[in-house]
Amino acid sequence: MSDATAQPQKTESFYDLVGGHETFVKLVDIFYEGVAEDPVLRPMYPEEDLGPARRRLTMFLEQYWGGPGTYSVERGHPRLRMRHVPFKVNPEARDRWLHHMRAGVDALSLPPVYEATLWDYLDRAAHSLVNSFED
Ligand code: HEM
Repeated sequence: MSDATAQPQKTESFYDLVGGHETFVKLVDIFYEGVAEDPVLRPMYPEEDLGPARRRLTMFLEQYWGGPGTYSVERGHPRLRMRHVPFKVNPEARDRWLHHMRAGVDALSLPPVYEATLWDYLDRAAHSLVNSFED
């Protein structure tokens, strides 16, 4: 007999499907290892310590994919285009950003369909944040 009072199953988020917090920490850690050595990107980061920036990007991605909403609790609405205005995001910066992110995505060894979903988003987001065509 079916139980009319049973709670419907909560749909699993993409965040859960790809491995939750550990996965996003790994992705962003590898990304920032690349940024730390990048002669174009590294000087753009205002803080000496990349730790806080690493944490903000991790929280943002976790929230975007259905994980904890800590990013918005701490930072408010993401407004990513506005938050990138102080930085010169030209095609070179975008491609370097994507190069380091690709290293992170590759290291996750996700099932191909999840990997494609994640990469497609990151690629589109990076293209949407270009705000300069100057060298
Ligand atoms: C296209 C190349 C990009 C460049 C050169 C770039 C550069 C930067 C820099 C220099 C910061 C400041 C560091 C900080 O204080 O947090 C930042 C912040 C941030 N970026 Fe990017 N970014 C790029 C693309 C992206 C993309 C594609 C995303 C999301 C998918 C993203 C998400 C964020 C977030 C969430 C923050 C922190 C915003 C805040 O709460 O203050 N960025 N980015």
